[in-house]
Amino acid sequence: MGQPTPAQKDSDWWRSAVIYQVYVRSFADGDGDGTGDLAGVRGNLPYLAELGVDAMWFTPWYLSPLKDGGYDVADYRTIDPAFGTLAEAEKLIAEARELGIRTIVDIVPNHVSDQHPWFRSALAAGPGSPERELFHFRPGRGPHGDLPPNDWPSQFAGSTEPVWTRLPDGDWYLHLFTPEQPDLNWAHPVVRQEHEDILRFWFERGVAGVRIDSAALLAKDPDLPDLATDPRPHPFVDRDELHDVYRSWRRVADEYDGVFVGEVWLPDAERFARYLRPDELHTAFNFSFLTCPWDAGRLRDSIDTTLAEHAPVGAPATWVLCNHDVTRTVTRYGREDTAFDFATKAFGTPTDLALGTRRARAAALLSLALPGALYLYQGEELGLPEADIPVDRIQDPMYFRSQGADPGRDGCRVPLPWAAGAPYAGFGAREEPWLPQPADWPSYAVDRQKQDPHSMLSLYREAIALRPEFGNGPLTWLPAPDGVLAFARADGALCVVNLAATPAVLPAHSRLLLSSGPLDDAGRLPEDTAAWLRP
Ligand code: NOJ
Repeated sequence: MGQPTPAQKDSDWWRSAVIYQVYVRSFADGDGDGTGDLAGVRGNLPYLAELGVDAMWFTPWYLSPLKDGGYDVADYRTIDPAFGTLAEAEKLIAEARELGIRTIVDIVPNHVSDQHPWFRSALAAGPGSPERELFHFRPGRGPHGDLPPNDWPSQFAGSTEPVWTRLPDGDWYLHLFTPEQPDLNWAHPVVRQEHEDILRFWFERGVAGVRIDSAALLAKDPDLPDLATDPRPHPFVDRDELHDVYRSWRRVADEYDGVFVGEVWLPDAERFARYLRPDELHTAFNFSFLTCPWDAGRLRDSIDTTLAEHAPVGAPATWVLCNHDVTRTVTRYGREDTAFDFATKAFGTPTDLALGTRRARAAALLSLALPGALYLYQGEELGLPEADIPVDRIQDPMYFRSQGADPGRDGCRVPLPWAAGAPYAGFGAREEPWLPQPADWPSYAVDRQKQDPHSMLSLYREAIALRPEFGNGPLTWLPAPDGVLAFARADGALCVVNLAATPAVLPAHSRLLLSSGPLDDAGRLPEDTAAWLRP
């Protein structure tokens, strides 16, 4: 486990933690009904403890019609019955903590489910009612009001669907994502109060942190102007009023020593860093690293920019290679275009999985050696590839809202393989899981990988155990040939990653701690391989 160095307090755990993202529906199925659940997570906590993670982040586990994988919350104070009960969640949080693993929950403040009591009341109450003020209801445009109130684009990449839906009573309501996810009105004090109460509700139950979904989208220009007029500031992205919201959230979190990680997709480094000022969020996901291609120069730029943008606000960086929204790492790195971009996702992209896996192993060592916290998405430690989901089994709204152009995100959400010889690769299901597993899933099973010292799982375990060798000091780049990344951490280990076609001579070292693949006969580092060295 990432042991704090003497210089780092226990309450600073989040500055250098390894955080495992649990997508409950696909982690492990405790009751055998084909859907993962809290019982499945509780039964496998020892697995996560052995892996050595410091915390788990749960994608939403609340009552939800699951129109967007749980990011459509009907009640924050109830666990979805498909996953378990609140009492079980409380037990899980406590049991995990006993094993040294903290829990982070996911809050989705931009929108709720259309089944949330607030939205149902708003529908029933009709146009002009105070209930509708909690959302963005507007009359339509045009002589008959049958044109949407503005021209905002959907926030689901590839979607050409409108972000407004008209009700039989004539009003339209705003939903940046699906129609089942109406956007809340963050200018309303009741919306603010309710979210602070939700934070308290979960902090009181022992959670250590909160991930904030779509964190830069909450605030809207009250005039809801058309984008075609290029209004400045942007009418719904990264508005200044948001910082006041997060300052008051921070005051709540500080009462519990709780921490935040924001989902903040912003190209502007300075604007991004504003969310990480000392009285706002503790951390935010680093999407520049996640989307970066497998290219030494681009990775080095991404690392430098990340560290430089965090430094002025004193926040630690986070390093993320994949999550439940993006193409799995081994698949992405095995393609001609190794960057991630929602706009270029397509069915049938040729993939060299052996190449992608070799690179993903090296990328694991690269990201675990960098200063800051690391997020690991379930199955990444098994080297799972993106699965091809037969179109008649796809559930993700991204597929439907793009008229089938975008394959959607189900390919990275397939139930995990635990035991090679068991039905459904040991996911625990007695019946067909909610998403089908590819035929070769058993070859990735945890039980098989545990036996194999060269498996992805063994690499992750060893790397997480050795990660304290890097300490918490800053990073210094070492001289290296083109295509090779080499750096040292102050008073810590060295990391070298070779992305060039020619083998690289390793810098002077006293010991090879770990490598993502074998060195060549001359002790050099082959292409797409990383090594950790003790100086
Ligand atoms: C980001 C989440 O990660 C994604 O899964 C979800 O669809 C959108 N936000 C909308 O909540």
